[in-house]
Amino acid sequence: MTARLIDGKAIAAAMREALTTRVAALPFRPGLAVVLVGDNPASAVYVRTKDRAAEAAGIAAATIRLPAGITEAALLAEVARLNADPAVDGILVQLPLPQSIRAEAVIDLIDPAKDVDGFHPRNAGLLALGRPALVPCTPLGVMKLLEAAGVALSGRRALVLGRSSIVGRPLVALLLAADATVTVAHSRTRDLAAECRRAEILVAAVGRAEMVRGDWISPGATVIDVGINRLADGRLVGDVAFAECAAVAGSITPVPGGVGPMTIACLLENTVTAALRRR
Ligand code: GUN
Repeated sequence: MTARLIDGKAIAAAMREALTTRVAALPFRPGLAVVLVGDNPASAVYVRTKDRAAEAAGIAAATIRLPAGITEAALLAEVARLNADPAVDGILVQLPLPQSIRAEAVIDLIDPAKDVDGFHPRNAGLLALGRPALVPCTPLGVMKLLEAAGVALSGRRALVLGRSSIVGRPLVALLLAADATVTVAHSRTRDLAAECRRAEILVAAVGRAEMVRGDWISPGATVIDVGINRLADGRLVGDVAFAECAAVAGSITPVPGGVGPMTIACLLENTVTAALRRR
């Protein structure tokens, strides 16, 4: 391996430590409500991780567990209750939701001022316009990783691989706001490899295990891997074939220990941001 490792775990730990100090100095305790519907095991793990991280930072975290069979109307009523609760600064409804519930209806009802996931159309629209907004945690974490790693963005060619509303699209807006020259590639892109080879900064967020190969990477490029994929043998890998790409890249994030910890740290930061704006 020749690439420098971008240590998301360490960068996130420093962020959380600074945040804990900030929270301790506040005259109130920020509140985060995490809503978990059903018993998706991966979601249960994520929610527990978020809850513990929040409590460790001094944020009052409450997990609201609802049955998989809950009606959309009942879930909407729960969101309305959290919107009205003055002790709740941040609301996060863990996705995916059961098929019978329209996720969009739920997201649209969350008070944009409490939308710590940044998924509400108001926040997405503000971000797209380059105006202050609550920004989705994973793309925000990617930007903070790039900043902490000292990666210059202005004028440089950045490629975002993936166009999801949770990662790809908001990341395009953030990279543009940082004056990068941004290309978005996706499943229908012709010659993905050639597009990747032009990138000085490559962010992979497609959810396909080890799709990005070593010969797709421009020598010296910065590679950020947002993917978390479980292989049949139980191993956790990203969207990037790590060993191959690390032999060519200038710097690279590992999976696990790259973007994942940053997502949690940014959720805590968004909760404090929302609390300070509201109170
Ligand atoms: N499911 C997978 N990622 C996320 C996320 O960032 N927020 C929420 N609410 N659910 C998710």
